[in-house]
Amino acid sequence: MDRRDFVLGALSTSTASLLAPMAARANTRGKGPIPYGAAVRTDPLYDDPAYQKAILDYCQVIVGEGGLKWIDLRPDRHIFDFTQPDRQLAFAEAHGLEMRGHTLAWHGAMPDWTETIASAEEARNELVSHIHTVVGRYKGRIPSWDVCNEPIAERPTRNAPIRDSIWQRHLGRDYIELALRTTAAADPAARLVINDYNFEQPTDEGRARRKFFLDLIRDLKARGAPLHAVGIQGHIQSDTAIDRSGLTAFVAEIDAMGLGVLVTELDVIDKPLPGPEPERDAAVANIAKQFLSAIGAACRPEAVLTWGISDRFTWVPIWFTRDDGLPNRPLPLDADYQPKPMMQVIQDFTHSFG
Ligand code: XIL
Repeated sequence: MDRRDFVLGALSTSTASLLAPMAARANTRGKGPIPYGAAVRTDPLYDDPAYQKAILDYCQVIVGEGGLKWIDLRPDRHIFDFTQPDRQLAFAEAHGLEMRGHTLAWHGAMPDWTETIASAEEARNELVSHIHTVVGRYKGRIPSWDVCNEPIAERPTRNAPIRDSIWQRHLGRDYIELALRTTAAADPAARLVINDYNFEQPTDEGRARRKFFLDLIRDLKARGAPLHAVGIQGHIQSDTAIDRSGLTAFVAEIDAMGLGVLVTELDVIDKPLPGPEPERDAAVANIAKQFLSAIGAACRPEAVLTWGISDRFTWVPIWFTRDDGLPNRPLPLDADYQPKPMMQVIQDFTHSFG
């Protein structure tokens, strides 16, 4: 299936005729099918042969669901625990997979001791030394980093576009440029990504997030900050439609800046969807198809990653358990590692680019 067929197939017939001929895209990075990958958990990567097989059967890229977050890496101010990322990277390198690094500067998953950071100077020193140590350790082996994760406020406003975090409190929005420049210094060949979510929502919040995110990356580009790509997480809330035109226009703006686009954490939060599995799986697949086709209409993404590969290991029930008590089914493989319609949608999409 080629890309035009995939995108047209995702449109209702009423809008398909409106689809302009596929515009030439600035970003033609890579040729052939787009790499697919998944967030991995370290333990089953080593002790579950069926999990290993699923990753090896479908993935060209992995990213640690945990391991490279401060909460995992930094049990205290003076310790770096690289056990998890070392094991993840060993698996990737043993099997010819690429590994993404997630994430260097985030508001979330911060160890308690970081609350004692008490000044701008201390925050700068901690952020710079952390990035130099971590990125330096994996220089040349982790080619793509989510340098800043979720920098935009949940409900951004003109006066407060940037999310509260230890870094933002002490350094203001300049922490973002500092993190990018420090990462580039630690590994000049790495591809530097800013990663965020809810860009697909047809709501005032979704529109505001798209606007203030674009303002942020335009400002970073104007400053000459080393930013190479944008990660669109894709934790899709299934109780709202996909703002197809809004998402396509958003991606087109990013592409026009010469920045790459990755889908970094795709899953479909199926809490509000019907209970019966065949019906729910079909709905999840269609939502993923609408999302991917809206992005593919504006660029060739560098990669598509899901936030996990099997329903057996998903973060979704942490926040979005179903009222009927049934297990969530947000990912491309079921809990027995069997492919669901969502996996076919992803494979059709990634192969529609050549
Ligand atoms: C989540 C993990 O999946 C959970 O296991 C962990 O408890 C919290 O973090 N957006 C992100 C990811 O960028 O890092 C988050 O991962 C999910 C939301």
